[in-house]
Amino acid sequence: MASQVPGLSALIKPGLIPGFKVSKDQLTTIIPVAAAAALSTYLLTRYFSSQSSPKCRVNMTINKDSPKVVHSFDMEDIGNKAVYCRCWRSKKFPYCDGAHTKHNEETADNVGPLIIKKKNP
Ligand code: FES
Repeated sequence: MASQVPGLSALIKPGLIPGFKVSKDQLTTIIPVAAAAALSTYLLTRYFSSQSSPKCRVNMTINKDSPKVVHSFDMEDIGNKAVYCRCWRSKKFPYCDGAHTKHNEETADNVGPLIIKKKNP
């Protein structure tokens, strides 16, 4: 049976490891089991590493007890100009307080605020 597996005879070299003998039939069992174990280990490691460290979060501090942070404003209430935070680091969130500057310096990011203003105030 082992002689039917292409290339298997090249793996079996008598005297390669002194005192260690594996028959061709044993190799046809060992190789698939070892490959399945290696694949299983790889897949489990990937699964558990993705579970333990969530992908890069944007929101580190704001309303963490809420499943979704949403703010809504009426256009009439905005006034002539409003500056909204998009970096999620502002202490006055949802308004920008300039914290994006420090964030950009520390991370080499390039985020900035959303500015909404009337054309002719
Ligand atoms: S503080 Fe977040 S965009 Fe300015």
